[in-house]
Amino acid sequence: MYPLQINLIFLMLFGHNCLESGLSVHFKANYFDLKIQNFSIIKDSFYTKISLLSCLSKCLSNEFCLYVRYEDSTCSHHTEFAEKAFEKSFKKVLYEKHLIKDNCLENPCKNSGVCVNRQNGYDCLCINKYFGKNCSLLNSFSCSKTNSFWSLKHELCIPCPANFSSMPQFPYSCFLNSGLNMIYRNAKLYCEEKNSTLLRLKSIMERSNFVQSDPNGKYWLDTKINYIGETFLWGDGSKIYGFAQNEPNNLNSLEIIFETCAVINNGKIFDEIEFYENYVVCQYSDSYEHFFY
Ligand SMILES: *[C@@H]1O[C@H](CO)[C@@H](O)[C@H](O)[C@H]1NC(C)=O
Ligand SMILES: *[C@@H]1O[C@H](CO)[C@@H](O)[C@H](O)[C@H]1NC(C)=O
Ligand SMILES: *[C@@H]1O[C@H](CO)[C@@H](O)[C@H](O)[C@H]1NC(C)=O
Ligand SMILES: *[C@@H]1O[C@H](CO)[C@@H](O)[C@H](O)[C@H]1NC(C)=O
Repeated sequence: MYPLQINLIFLMLFGHNCLESGLSVHFKANYFDLKIQNFSIIKDSFYTKISLLSCLSKCLSNEFCLYVRYEDSTCSHHTEFAEKAFEKSFKKVLYEKHLIKDNCLENPCKNSGVCVNRQNGYDCLCINKYFGKNCSLLNSFSCSKTNSFWSLKHELCIPCPANFSSMPQFPYSCFLNSGLNMIYRNAKLYCEEKNSTLLRLKSIMERSNFVQSDPNGKYWLDTKINYIGETFLWGDGSKIYGFAQNEPNNLNSLEIIFETCAVINNGKIFDEIEFYENYVVCQYSDSYEHFFY
């Protein structure tokens, strides 16, 4: 992965910071630098005149911080996407965060779900008809009434809002297909006016439904980033999985941000220029606390 990596276990951080949150990480120092200083910089994580220890501690407390650049008492934090902007350096300025605690050790994911270790826990990537935090829920609920959805919050069938309809393949949300092409901002407003959101297609199952119904269509998703390499999150703050290979790529630009939004196309997610016109389908659900990757 790295053409020239010198692994030094630089520092084990077991300060009160880590104990409090039960986190333990180490940072590896690498002879690397980033092509441009603020590539995939994490918001509000650019500091001058702080110690290396504070710099690393601050990275520790940010789930999406993976790389720390530290030079001349100047510290910046970067996401996983910074890797695209690596370049060789004779100075050791780049530190990579490694989680020591493996939250996947006891494999919490049921039904062949794949566990992703995260700083504050884990995510399960579920397959087939399973969903939920641990892929233990089966997509077996259904509402006999048409245009009703199964509320995971109240555990009963609730009618969809006016003009929304339910999908038998995924009965936990209601959808409204506008049939319209819009730029991102207008698309987002369109759904907000209907008390709903742009699509939050968290599970493979939901995404594959869109392949079946319209393989060539491009539909806006409920996400937007502000700087190159920022992690794409759903509107409820959970991380987006399901990007196509080598995506998001920001049109391969390391200098100017082009692709701030995302679409689903043929079951895969791509980053996309917000001023392009894409299809708008709104999604309504009363519970976003359940994860269904
Ligand atoms: C990052 O880049 C933006 C322009 O893309 C610039 O306005 C900003 O000052 C840069 N931030 C840092 C910390 O270099
Ligand atoms: C998921 O599994 C963990 C560990 O086995 C358990 O503590 C937790 O309650 C489960 N969560 C759900 C929503 O099933
Ligand atoms: C539902 O659609 C009809 C026909 O397009 C429209 O007249 C009506 O205002 C819509 N209702 C709501 C609540 O948006
Ligand atoms: C959206 O919610 C607000 C406040 O609950 C309500 O007044 C409004 O009628 C709703 N709009 C639609 C289109 O359902």
